[in-house]
Amino acid sequence: LKIFTCNANPKLAEEIGAYLGVPLGAAKVKRFSDGEISVVIDESVRGEDVFVIQPTCEPVNDNLMELLIMIDALRRASARRITAVIPYYGYARQERKTRARDPISAKLVANLITAAGAHRVLTMDLHAAAIQGFFDIPVDHLTAVPILADYFNSKGFEKAVIVSPDLGGVTRARNFAERIGAEIAIIDKRRPAPNVAEIMNLIGDVKNKTVIMIDDLIDTAGTICLGAKALMEQGACAVYACCTHPVLSGPARERLMASPLQEVVVCNTIPVPEGKEIPKLHRLSVA
Ligand code: R5P
Repeated sequence: LKIFTCNANPKLAEEIGAYLGVPLGAAKVKRFSDGEISVVIDESVRGEDVFVIQPTCEPVNDNLMELLIMIDALRRASARRITAVIPYYGYARQERKTRARDPISAKLVANLITAAGAHRVLTMDLHAAAIQGFFDIPVDHLTAVPILADYFNSKGFEKAVIVSPDLGGVTRARNFAERIGAEIAIIDKRRPAPNVAEIMNLIGDVKNKTVIMIDDLIDTAGTICLGAKALMEQGACAVYACCTHPVLSGPARERLMASPLQEVVVCNTIPVPEGKEIPKLHRLSVA
């Protein structure tokens, strides 16, 4: 098999290559002077089983376009099978109409990836598992829950409670709690506007407990930081958070630093930009 990367997360691609003992394929993904993407594949892929590693994280549209053009180039170079490895699937939160005249961008992205020539998609912790069905090609939907659970199990917390920061994340929280051997609690969150989180109620008891919140992603960190504050007010003795995808846009850094969170454990599906490390953040590899 051959592994190629574009520019979204070459470090993760290197780690996967090292794990498999397969050096990355020779290719250059650059820009023409007008900003268009140029892909040059410097080795034969004829008849090969090819994997392209490219999360569609920020800059989402550039990374998506790089992926599409890379797939197109591989298809035209007669690769036998092309698997798009998309550890973080951008646009996943636009997976249904919530108001009249909304687009369903997650489906549009699925159509584009398929039309470009992917035979298979490998992704992790989709915001909505139903996105698998947006593809008519096979989708391997992996989860980072075992990796996150192993980390917290190694800390040996006693009396931990696992909290889902919203109703949509209950199944994930339950799977995680089963691996930790803990009870679960649920935050009833509301979104009065995009990127604005409001906490309504806590279902469950966290008094004098160590709490671990688990989410698919942390974006502006509003959800997780408001959750941490509410859990402390309900008597939790310490609050940790974890997620698969550290999107960390806008005010995320300041919010996490100012929050009562002890530690925020994330995976490396999305890279941290140079010089933007956050001291409370601990990163685990999904390679
Ligand atoms: C929402 O349903 C997701 O699971 C996350 O909770 C949410 O997208 C996180 O966004 P933010 O960090 O901006 O509150």
